[in-house]
Amino acid sequence: MARNQIRILMLGDIVGASGVRALFLQLGGLRTHLRADLVIANVENAAGGYGLTPAIADKLTGMGVDVMTSGNHIWQQREIWRRLDDDQRLLRPHNYPEGPPGRGTVIVDSAAGKVAVLNLEGRAGMANLRDPIRVGEAEVARLRATTRAIVVDFHAESLDEKEAFALRVDGTVSAVVGSHTHVQTADERVLKGGTAFLGDLGMTGPPDSAIGMQMQTSIDRSLSQMPLKLMVDEATAAICGALVVIDADSGHALSIERIYQPPTS
Ligand SMILES: [Fe+2]
Repeated sequence: MARNQIRILMLGDIVGASGVRALFLQLGGLRTHLRADLVIANVENAAGGYGLTPAIADKLTGMGVDVMTSGNHIWQQREIWRRLDDDQRLLRPHNYPEGPPGRGTVIVDSAAGKVAVLNLEGRAGMANLRDPIRVGEAEVARLRATTRAIVVDFHAESLDEKEAFALRVDGTVSAVVGSHTHVQTADERVLKGGTAFLGDLGMTGPPDSAIGMQMQTSIDRSLSQMPLKLMVDEATAAICGALVVIDADSGHALSIERIYQPPTS
């Protein structure tokens, strides 16, 4: 008898208008081709590289993004703050201290069953948030009372921190995938306990750029050490992410596959 599977497409940080445009052109076809039951995308760079606006959130959900995750940049457009409170499917990292708007976790109905999505943020080289491992573990325990299909977007600079979390929760969540660095890693695997892992999904942004930003400013910034504001590069974007296939009953991952959809000409 065929196992009850849930197929989840997770997309890396959508960078600016070119990232949004790539999804507009390709997400429908990709979703059909991959037979994805659920699409989760990190949206924290969608508004010109810095945060998200309600209008862009509407565009992305209209294209078929079911759950939006985020990270340190989500606060930069203040007009999204209310939406963080009002929209269950828009997450910010769960391990912020008490006070900021929004939530970091949601349980949604996919065509193949309930899926919990948990968004965490690392601390190495980032803000001094609550411990993502302990806070994340406690939230996983709560979510498991409702569903075993749990996927985590761990938004962090440090691969070591992302991997430590994945190894700690191995067997209790379906997948831990990283975001934030904009560079897709090649370390995808299903860990011994049944948790799929990928260090970073990469970005949905222009590959011929400096992590989605205009190259010259990035070079000037590195040479001068001046905090020059990076501007998004508007060249055509690639789509980066991963497809995770989950056994709906156990919640264990059956496979994880990197997705790279090159820019359309
Ligand atoms: Fe980030």
